This record gives sequence, C-alpha cells and structure tokens, in this order.
Amino acid sequence: MVPIPLAHRASADVEYNGMVIRKGSCILYNNYSVFHDKNIWGDPEQFKPERFLSPGNSEMVIGTEKLQGIFGFGKRVCLGETLAWNSFFLYFVTLIQNWKMEVVEGQPAPDIHNVFESFSLSPNSFEVKMVPQTYL
Ligand code: HEM
Repeated sequence: MVPIPLAHRASADVEYNGMVIRKGSCILYNNYSVFHDKNIWGDPEQFKPERFLSPGNSEMVIGTEKLQGIFGFGKRVCLGETLAWNSFFLYFVTLIQNWKMEVVEGQPAPDIHNVFESFSLSPNSFEVKMVPQTYL
C-alpha cells in the first residue's frame, strides 16, 4: 500500500468540516491511518480476505465504500486502477488455482509489522513452500 499518496494542491479556497483550506495549500492524506482505523475494520491487523467478499462469500466486492481510497480520490484518482484490479485477479487466481502455499517449517510466517517502508509498504522477504495443486 501507499501510506501517504501523492500531494495535491487546493486550486481554490474550500471549506471542509468547518475548516477552511486556503487556495494553494498542499494537501496530503493518510491512507495508512484510514486502512488501520479500528472503527472501519474492527481488527485491521488480522489477515482476513473474507472482508472483501459479498454476503454468502460468492464474489469479491470491488469499489465498495470501504475500499475507496486505495487508488486515491476524485479527479486525480489512479489511472491504472482497472488494470491493477484485473492484473491482481488474474495473477492471484492463477496462483491459488495451481499452487498450495505453505509456511516453510522452522521459518517465521510473514509478519504485518515486518515491512520495507518506502513510497509504498511491502513485506520484507520471507520463504514460502509452493506445492503444485493436483486435481486428479
Ligand atoms: C496496486 C496497484 C496500484 C495502486 C495501489 C495505486 C495507487 C495509486 C494512488 C494512491 C495514487 C494517487 C491518487 C491520488 O493522488 O489521489 C495513484 C496515482 C496514479 N497511478 Fe496508481 N496505483 C496502482 C497501480 C497503477 C498502475 C498499474 C498504473 C499505470 C499503469 C498507475 C498509474 C497511476 C498514475 C498515472 C497516477 C497519477 C494520476 C494523476 O495524478 O492524475 N497506477 N495510484
């Protein structure tokens, strides 16, 4: 994830929630805080892919209110959003269709706090055992 996405500048005076943002102000928003907000997510640090499934767990819910912001907001929203969603879908479906992924015995499991911090946050290297799926 990108904890603090690209900076924006107010092109006019704006009033938001009783605060006046003057024309020319630099605006940064804190995505990290939004995606770790316990009021929205309950237990944001738990790995729960099912958060993003529709009732009945039949399909992934994209573009819901909860997920807004991952790709930014408004007119300058990420240009690659559709490409990214489609690529993720193809990539992960292909992976989980063909491989079973397991923690390597004696090695630590990936840890949400063990990340490389830069423009984006990515997990530090970890080992994984890939077992081919057989359907016969
Ligand atoms: C997981 C994948 C991606 C994530 C999470 C992501 C996230 C973001 C975010 C948060 C912004 C800032 C939006 C804002 O300022 O409010 C952004 C901007 C942008 N992204 Fe992405 N992005 C992803 C993939 C891509 C891809 C695949 C492309 C191009 C092929 C792309 C092209 C751009 C461009 C051109 C902007 C600047 C848009 C503008 O300022 O008008 N992104 N992205």
